[in-house]
Amino acid sequence: MLSVIILAAGQSKRMKSSLSKVLHPLGGLPMIQHVFNAVLGLDPRQVIAVISPSLQHHPFLGAVTTVIQDQPLGTGHAVQCAVDSIEDQSRDVLILCGDTPLIRPETLKHLMEIDADLALVAMPLDTAERRAQPYGRILLDDKGVPLGIVEYKDATDQMRESPLANAGVYKVKASLLREILPQLNNKNTTGEYYLTDMVGLFYERGHSVKLIQADEEEFLGINTRAELARAESILQHRWRANAMENGVTLVQPETIFFAHDTHVEKDCRIGPFVTFGPGVKLHENVTVMSFCHLEHTVAESGVTIGPFAHTRGNSVFLAESSIGNFVEVKGSVIGKKSKAKHLSYIGDSDIGDSVNIGAGTITCNYDGYKKSRTIIGAGSFIGANSTLIAPIKIGEGVIVAAGSTVTKDVPDGSLAIARPPQAVKVGWARTFHDKNRC
Ligand code: UD1
Ligand code: CA
Repeated sequence: MLSVIILAAGQSKRMKSSLSKVLHPLGGLPMIQHVFNAVLGLDPRQVIAVISPSLQHHPFLGAVTTVIQDQPLGTGHAVQCAVDSIEDQSRDVLILCGDTPLIRPETLKHLMEIDADLALVAMPLDTAERRAQPYGRILLDDKGVPLGIVEYKDATDQMRESPLANAGVYKVKASLLREILPQLNNKNTTGEYYLTDMVGLFYERGHSVKLIQADEEEFLGINTRAELARAESILQHRWRANAMENGVTLVQPETIFFAHDTHVEKDCRIGPFVTFGPGVKLHENVTVMSFCHLEHTVAESGVTIGPFAHTRGNSVFLAESSIGNFVEVKGSVIGKKSKAKHLSYIGDSDIGDSVNIGAGTITCNYDGYKKSRTIIGAGSFIGANSTLIAPIKIGEGVIVAAGSTVTKDVPDGSLAIARPPQAVKVGWARTFHDKNRC
């Protein structure tokens, strides 16, 4: 069975961040978690992450064997720290970097199918922009077999002309890896133990070395904030294409931003400038109009959201319900065909079916110390500008008069008016004007 080693103990110097670079999020998920997800597609026996001491208590590491690399002495040293933890020394090991989150499981599967002692991934540098990237360069012998990798910093100008860059992903026989690793040295520009030097050592000893080619975009290594932004934009492009492929209409796709787990079913229509945070699931035929932000929200089919709406905190919209402009829904269930079309805050509420929430209605869920729920029964009508002070239960078929501040539960079928009665003093204003006019 396959063992996987993910290297994640580097210093992240080029990110200029106090957060380890492998924890910087893409589509709302730490970059290293994208690598884990790609690897899980291979059904490995064991995943080992080589991490720095500062990462050891991080929650993302749940299902992973961790190995601490006390000092970042190089990728070769990092793998050396991990080899003793490999449970099945008789099989292959897949080695990847935690800073290459765009990898697809299909490409890894392809690499695993290569019959060689060492198989690596090469990125063709087919544009001037790509040739300027400081990746390690793969050198080939005259039969096209990889005979070594030279790091960009150590390469001569001629070596930098090599059209193949090293992606930093290797499939290697565990027993040979163990044998070769102690041979690495740190006699190079940076004084690090380079894992890449194993390629030359394999070649010299007559072990078979093969490569597959893959697009640079998929193996983009993230070392800087600019590369992080590029990776986010590549992922967004992928997710948009995927949504459209699955029958979702995106109006101005380049203005719509998905999270890593956004689930949108067919015949949904997403307007411009919509952002999905994590945890959103839209069933078929949901419309999200422009300028909405959704996270931790499930919408059943036929729901309409927005424009300018904000939903969050495990909210559920049952079929054909709708919210309109400047409505925020948090931690609430909106019943079937219920509506809140204008300027409302609905927090920690359970709203029954076919309820109408008038413009400006606010559920007051927080007293400064704790959150309380608002319950509104089916078929109720909440007049505009009502304030519902939670905890409160409004029954079924209730009418709340506009402008009410409701503090007590209202039984089924009742009218609640909670506002000062109107006084009309006939002629009072006319007398006032006549007295004061000059
Ligand atoms: C590495 C490769 C380079 C390749 C590039 C692809 C080496 C020497 N070079 O360069 O040939 O083109 O990836 O993206 O391998 N890490 C550790 N411990 C360390 C040093 C690094 O765990 O002591 C981890 C880092 O966290 C990172 C990964 O290894 O996830 C790669 O290290 P990085 O410093 O980013 O290597 P590159 O210079 O990008
Ligand atoms: Ca890197």
